[in-house]
Amino acid sequence: MPENLKVHEYKDRQEYVDIQVARSRKKFDYCKVYLRDILRYRELIAWDYYRDGRSRSLRTTWRPGRILCLGVRSGAENDLFRLGFFSPLMRLGPLAQLAVRLDSTNNAHDKIRLARRFGLGAGGRNDGRVLGVEINPDAARTDIHVGSFDELPADWTGRFDLLFTNSFDHSMDPARTVAEWKRVAAPGAYAIVAFSLGQEQSDHDPVAGLSFQALSDLWGAPVVFATDLYNRNGYREICFRLE
Ligand SMILES: C[S@@+](CC[C@H](N)C(=O)[O-])C[C@H]1O[C@@H](n2cnc3c(N)ncnc32)[C@H](O)[C@@H]1O
Repeated sequence: MPENLKVHEYKDRQEYVDIQVARSRKKFDYCKVYLRDILRYRELIAWDYYRDGRSRSLRTTWRPGRILCLGVRSGAENDLFRLGFFSPLMRLGPLAQLAVRLDSTNNAHDKIRLARRFGLGAGGRNDGRVLGVEINPDAARTDIHVGSFDELPADWTGRFDLLFTNSFDHSMDPARTVAEWKRVAAPGAYAIVAFSLGQEQSDHDPVAGLSFQALSDLWGAPVVFATDLYNRNGYREICFRLE
């Protein structure tokens, strides 16, 4: 484990689960993911894909087969990822800009409505292209697997081309969590971790000391981008390419 990483110790697994669920319930109507950031991920990954020689033209857009979001609360980010990566409308500059402008609050219901409004051709919650994982059983949607993100279904091995989380600081065991996420990633998949710098350790945010270096040491994978400037919610972001 990276030296500066600190992880809160729980009495047992049940205590961890109970605290996470109670906290998620309290903030259930929030979503800290913004369409603007998702469209930026789409562009940056397309560039890496080209640079890596996996597409012949920079104009060939990279399209993941399946996306997995980890720690999604009510699941609004599933809808935003579906919109950003799969809606043909989000390939049209002015419409994408309008949608980005309208995505102006951290209210999950607003985001779900926005995704519905602009999501023509993006597919739906039942098509299996975007899945979320959430420990809070209130997250009852067909595109959410209710369970812990460090114990994913056995038949998910190698299934996802893009992983996203802003909930890594909620992990009970960071090394185990990374191993599990790598297991479900397809060869050549991308993994994006958005995190807050300098976060205090607590029973609901058990991981403290996250940094680009700590995450890079934990993941041991090539970094596609790492930025502390652009996230709409103020997160740091690091993206890995998983071989
Ligand atoms: C900081 S919130 C982020 C929610 C959402 N991504 C957003 O942007 O609003 C963390 C979420 O991760 C969930 N969570 C915590 N530990 C988890 C685990 N082990 N497995 C799955 N979900 C977990 C919590 O219940 C909570 O809903």
